[in-house]
Amino acid sequence: MMYQLAPSMLSADFNKLGEQLAELESAGCEWLHVDVMDGMFVPSISFGMPVIASIRKQSKLFFDVHMMVEEPGRYVDAMKEAGAELLCVHAEACKHLDRTLQAIKEAGMKTGVALNPATPLSVIDYVMDKADMILIMSVNPGFGGQSYIPSATEKIRALRKKLDDAGYTDTWIEVDGGVKEGTAELVLEAGANLLVAGSAVFKGSITERFNILNGIIDNYR
Ligand code: DX5
Ligand code: ZN
Repeated sequence: MMYQLAPSMLSADFNKLGEQLAELESAGCEWLHVDVMDGMFVPSISFGMPVIASIRKQSKLFFDVHMMVEEPGRYVDAMKEAGAELLCVHAEACKHLDRTLQAIKEAGMKTGVALNPATPLSVIDYVMDKADMILIMSVNPGFGGQSYIPSATEKIRALRKKLDDAGYTDTWIEVDGGVKEGTAELVLEAGANLLVAGSAVFKGSITERFNILNGIIDNYR
């Protein structure tokens, strides 16, 4: 299984965005978690295609785009065009989740399904064959800097078992929200292989923070 720390751009200093992403790359980072918010699915509005297309020009990072957007199927082609490599949509935001996942695949991107803390794992029962990644939200989406919700740990464990039992042993499990020293170990132990971290990477020295968290992941690689 491939393990990555995916820093969440939402916690970056947008005035120095280019510099901060370059610093991540020099530190050995390969993935970037890109949080798109529409002010409807979640209260806040973050950024969209023009910003993603602009950083795409100077970045080699893999763009893992987390769509906190109602009916994200409307933006599949535009996000591909902007430079997204993985498009993760919320099950709660899609009337036709199966169709949206197919559209993402057809556009040539990896697919992800995100689940809010209160959403049961059963919503993925009939789309496991179309999902490259399942994202377990360990906070209610909308803002960086919130505390990890402890019930996420058991949910990750149950998800890994569900995927294994169904024969989807290669499906990635990403965890997003409140991941830092202390919670990173919990989610890795439970079976996650992709860890999103916003405030834990960008608040302080980026290189130092990246190395500390990536070092924890190294124990599981
Ligand atoms: C929350 C976003 C997260 C957020 C994580 O709605 O989806 O990706 O940036 O931030 P931290 O790591 O600070 O909880
Ligand atoms: Zn996110």
